[in-house]
Amino acid sequence: MSNFKLGFIGAGFIAHFQATALKQVRGVDLAGVYSPEGGEELSVYAQGCGLGTCQVFPSVEELCKHVDAVAIFAPNFARLEHMEALVAAVKAGAPLKGIICEKPLGRTVAEAERMVALAAEAGIPTAYFENQLHMKAMQAAKAQLAPQQAAMGPMTLSRCSEEHAGPHRGWFWDPTQQGGGVLADMGCHSIAVGWYMLTPNGKPMDFLEPVSVTADVALLKWGTPHYRKKLLADMGVDYSKTPAEDFATGLVTFRNPETGQLVKAQFTNSWMYDKQGLRLYMDGLGPGYAYEMNSLVSPLEIFIGDEAAEAVADAETALEKSTATRGLLPVVPNEPDLYGYVDELIDAVQAFQTGKDGMANMAYGLEITRLCQAAYLSAEQGRTIDLTSAAVQQELKSYISLIAQGRGGEQLHIM
Ligand SMILES: NC(=O)c1ccc[n+]([C@@H]2O[C@H](COP(=O)([O-])OP(=O)(O)OC[C@H]3O[C@@H](n4cnc5c(N)ncnc54)[C@H](O)[C@@H]3O)[C@@H](O)[C@H]2O)c1
Repeated sequence: MSNFKLGFIGAGFIAHFQATALKQVRGVDLAGVYSPEGGEELSVYAQGCGLGTCQVFPSVEELCKHVDAVAIFAPNFARLEHMEALVAAVKAGAPLKGIICEKPLGRTVAEAERMVALAAEAGIPTAYFENQLHMKAMQAAKAQLAPQQAAMGPMTLSRCSEEHAGPHRGWFWDPTQQGGGVLADMGCHSIAVGWYMLTPNGKPMDFLEPVSVTADVALLKWGTPHYRKKLLADMGVDYSKTPAEDFATGLVTFRNPETGQLVKAQFTNSWMYDKQGLRLYMDGLGPGYAYEMNSLVSPLEIFIGDEAAEAVADAETALEKSTATRGLLPVVPNEPDLYGYVDELIDAVQAFQTGKDGMANMAYGLEITRLCQAAYLSAEQGRTIDLTSAAVQQELKSYISLIAQGRGGEQLHIM
């Protein structure tokens, strides 16, 4: 059987991470890429790794004619444009077996609903990439605690966080382009993995019914004069005019429809984590059992003293968004695998080969978008959002947060 041919839209940060992950996936070629920038570099990288031809195509339509599935790895503001082009290509006869979309599915509920509607028009399977669900550590925690869950009952509290010192590109910092700040960027991960870890084994991913969301957002670091100046100089984004939150936390309550039991997922996300680099921290508690995961607890540590510090080549090859180049440093030797990229690729390709959606599909991505947007609404209005209310669901359909509108100054405290 010939290799499954994957095509990428976008050739930036996540596209390179996913290409590196693909090195650990059997039977899949990176056959093509469409990207306004960076396509040639990705192609050279992919060919150098033996990943496939990674031909650079001039349009989404051309890419679709030459691959089995396409992954959208482009900025959030271009989601709908790319999905529309994909669907047009499928209608014109492109033989796609699946469409992958990175998080977030949309910057608003309306955008995410449009993505789901477009996928339905195309009539082909989808995978919504929420890598943390696929992390081997999370899967192992679920598997190891299955007997305890069966004997004692399901997990009742999960606490998930993802934090680092801030994104690498200007569009990510600009709330009008990204769709918000850190809650839009990483809140989706923590809310999704929290919901997933609470879900009783063997039940569908949306088995637990969202009941309410309470959240708070703040600008704790990047709104101060020193860091505003730095952000403007480095990223061209002015947080005195269009600020976004660099800290978000909240609690989502879910209801088990069979038992009526209420369970809770707490999330915390920040772009102000001035420690070693990216940290994923998750823990969960059930009756008489628990798990805890910290991605910075690596089996490998290196030490670089002041004398040797000038010799450091590139701290980011040791750890994503690394902030330091000397001292005692954790090294995460296989980040694409640790973060779940390898397993989400395997899951999507295997599903598409049998005509199915990935473990998480776009309809699930829409639910995550809804929860994130409800969290913005909660923080904006300073109240708990009742997700069981038909009026709230209606309100969310057209809701655009103040922060995403570029009006974060009305909500966030800027020094
Ligand atoms: N799962 C994760 O952990 C994770 C991590 C980072 C980013 N992401 C997601 O991946 C997506 C891409 O993020 P990134 O960090 O790779 O961004 P990036 O800016 O580094 O790269 C984006 C790429 O898309 C290309 N592109 C394609 N169409 C474009 C258009 N119409 N306008 C502008 N650029 C276009 C750019 O040229 C560039 O090559 C985002 O949706 C982001 O949320 C996910």
